[in-house]
Amino acid sequence: MCILSMSKKYIYQGNFKMTTTTTQTKAVIDTTVPVANALPSVITKEYAHALPIDELVALLELKDPEIEDVVYSDPRWNEMVTVDAGELFDIIPKGAVRIKQRKYRHPKCVASNPFYIPQRDVLRRVLGWWCAPERPLSLYLYGETGTGKTEMIQYFADKLNWPVSIMQVTEYSRSDKAQGSYVLHNGKTPFHYGPVAQSMKYGWCLILDELDKGNGDFHCKLHNPVEGKPMQIDDTGEIILPAEGYRCVGTGNTSGGGDISGRYLTSNRMDEAFRRRFGVVKCDYPAYDIECAILTSRNNPDSPISKKTIRRMCRFATEIRKALQAPEIEAKCTTPEELASAKLPVERLGCAFSTRILVAWHQYIMVFGRQFTPLIESFNFVFGESLDEEDRPAVFAILQRIFGESINHADEWTEEKK
Ligand SMILES: Nc1ncnc2c1ncn2[C@@H]1O[C@H](COP(=O)(O)OP(=O)(O)OP(=O)(O)O)[C@@H](O)[C@H]1O
Ligand SMILES: [Mg+2]
Repeated sequence: MCILSMSKKYIYQGNFKMTTTTTQTKAVIDTTVPVANALPSVITKEYAHALPIDELVALLELKDPEIEDVVYSDPRWNEMVTVDAGELFDIIPKGAVRIKQRKYRHPKCVASNPFYIPQRDVLRRVLGWWCAPERPLSLYLYGETGTGKTEMIQYFADKLNWPVSIMQVTEYSRSDKAQGSYVLHNGKTPFHYGPVAQSMKYGWCLILDELDKGNGDFHCKLHNPVEGKPMQIDDTGEIILPAEGYRCVGTGNTSGGGDISGRYLTSNRMDEAFRRRFGVVKCDYPAYDIECAILTSRNNPDSPISKKTIRRMCRFATEIRKALQAPEIEAKCTTPEELASAKLPVERLGCAFSTRILVAWHQYIMVFGRQFTPLIESFNFVFGESLDEEDRPAVFAILQRIFGESINHADEWTEEKK
C-alpha cells in the first residue's frame, strides 16, 4: 500500500503528463481532455491491478519508490505465452523448441541492437540454461572485449520481453548499492530497492556486467543472489526471495582467474567459492561469415560499402585475431601437421581487434565518405592511431597483405582506376 502526499492533488487521466522537479512532482493537466479519474490518495496493489497496463506504467512517472513497488509487483508482468523459439531466433529450427515469453512488454525491457546476429554455440547454451527447470548456477559469459557478450544477453532478454536490470561492476561497487538504499521522497525516506534486490523480487534478468572487475567483498555479498537463494537486505532486514522469472548473468573479460594476458589489467581474480556458482560460456569473436553478414546488414542501402571491402575487412579481423591467439593455438598443437593446418600468420600481437571495432570501422568509412576518403583514414581513427608501438608494424603488415594498395584509396578503387 502506498499513501500519496495529501498536500497535493493528483489528477489522473489517460494522457496526463507528469513533470518532476527537484522539490516536487506536478501533474500537468491537458484541459482539452475531460478528467477521467482522480488518482486516489492511497494506491493499493488492487487499485493498480485494475488499471490498464499503459496507465499502470504511467504511475512510474511519479517517481515514488512505494508506487514503483506497487507497479512492479503487478502479477500481469509474470503472465507468459509459450512461443516457438524458432520464430524468435532465426538460427533455431522452427518447431524444435518452445519457450516462454512475457505477455506484456515491461518498462524495464531494453530494446537490443537490431543488427545483432547471435553465435549459434553461445545462443544454444544460453537457451539451455535459461529454460532449465532449476538454475543452481548463474551464467557467466566471458571473452575478449567486443565479442558481443553484453549484447547477447540483452538480445536474448529483449526477444522474450524479459525485464532487465544492468549493474556495471567496478572495483568500487558496493553491496549496499546492489541491495538498495533509503531515499528522500516528499519529506519521507522510503527504501528504494537496488538492481539485485529488484531483479530477485520482481523476477527480472540481472546483468552483472564486467563482474570480474568487482572486489572480493562485493562478490561475497552476491553469493546468495548468484546461487538463487534468499538474500537479506542489510538496511531493512527484509528477506528477498528469488521470484520465478529471476535470472542472473555475469559478463567479464577473464574466466575469473584474473588477467593473464596483460590486456585486462583491472580484472581481478575471483574467489573460488564465487566462481563455482556460475556455469561458464566462453565467447569468441563471430566467425568470418557472421561478421560479413553483420557489416552487410549495417550497410547504407543507398550507398553500400562494396562486398570486396567488407570481405577484406573481415579477413583482416580474422588474421589479426590469429596473430593474437597464435601462442595459445601453437601450445595446443601436438604435431607439425596440426600446426601447419592452423595456418598461423608469422606476426604476433598483443592487441584485440574486436567486432565492436570492426563495426565502428564500417560506420566511419560511411561517415568519412565511402567514395572519396581513403580507407586508411577511418582505420587509423578506430584502431591504427591507438596501437602500442610494438604492435604497429605487425598490424600494418597484415593490413597491407590483405588490402594492398587499395587501403590508401576510397572504397571500390581498383588497379584499373590508377
Ligand atoms: N554477434 C554480433 N552481432 C552484431 N554485432 C555485434 C556482435 N557481437 C559484437 N557486435 C558489435 O560489437 C559491439 C560490442 O558488443 P558488446 O558490448 O556486447 O561486447 P562485449 O563482449 O560485452 O565487450 P566488453 O568485454 O568490452 O564489454 C556491439 O555494439 C556490436 O556493434
Ligand atoms: Mg560488455
